[in-house]
Amino acid sequence: MKENILIFGGNSFLAKAFNEKYKDVYAIQNVYRNDQSQQLNFDFESDDTERITAELKDNYKAVLFFQGLTPSVGAKDISAEHFLRMLKINLVTPALLIKGLAGKLSPGALVLFISSVAKKKGSFDPAYGSAKAGLTGLMHSLANAYPQLRFNIVSLGLVENSPVFNNMTEGFRQKHAGRMFNNEFIKAEDVVNVVAELVNNQSINRTDIEVDGGYN
Ligand SMILES: NC(=O)c1ccc[n+]([C@@H]2O[C@H](COP(=O)([O-])OP(=O)(O)OC[C@H]3O[C@@H](n4cnc5c(N)ncnc54)[C@H](OP(=O)(O)O)[C@@H]3O)[C@@H](O)[C@H]2O)c1
Repeated sequence: MKENILIFGGNSFLAKAFNEKYKDVYAIQNVYRNDQSQQLNFDFESDDTERITAELKDNYKAVLFFQGLTPSVGAKDISAEHFLRMLKINLVTPALLIKGLAGKLSPGALVLFISSVAKKKGSFDPAYGSAKAGLTGLMHSLANAYPQLRFNIVSLGLVENSPVFNNMTEGFRQKHAGRMFNNEFIKAEDVVNVVAELVNNQSINRTDIEVDGGYN
């Protein structure tokens, strides 16, 4: 029987890449923000974590958090509303979901957060950079509280053909490429291969794997 994997942000570019490659290997349950054609919907801005955790199955081998907000508000325009929204979607709601889901995860299950090169280089959107850097503290804190689970982060450079990539000017793209190996963007397939390794590799815990072409 196929093992269960739970994905939040089911319509994200990277979740779709993971689904495409591993749909025959795992029983993947996707949760969407608000897609009425789908069975499971949950908005990370809501406070309804108990409702969605009750709807989910159990015995998950992994929970993959692919939800996210694109950087959009520069330092000079920052508002409390935007900052809090970014923190809620990246940090607060994932923490509450793990509280509700911990009993539904198999021993050794992977909880995966996706961070960004912005955690070390900064972002034009301080809320985004802060939220992505905050994932490190969240990972270690949850790992202390749930020692039967494995918590890991994958931190990404600019992923080719993703929405954030498509919305960038060519000049900005080249700025990213110029600081990564071979002047190349990150390939979605390389990201999902690392995620799949983390799902299975029981020796990897509390790491932050940088899939960013050595961005410097
Ligand atoms: N792509 C990159 O270059 C890159 C680089 C570094 C880090 N990352 C991180 O990697 C992750 C996936 O990236 P991606 O490019 O695949 O993302 P994406 O295609 O932009 O998708 C983001 C997803 O988050 C969902 N979402 C947004 N707000 C939500 C909310 N309030 N509740 C529930 N879901 C919500 C969106 O739902 P809808 O479909 O309903 O809009 C969308 O499916 C994100 O955390 C991103 O920050 C990406």
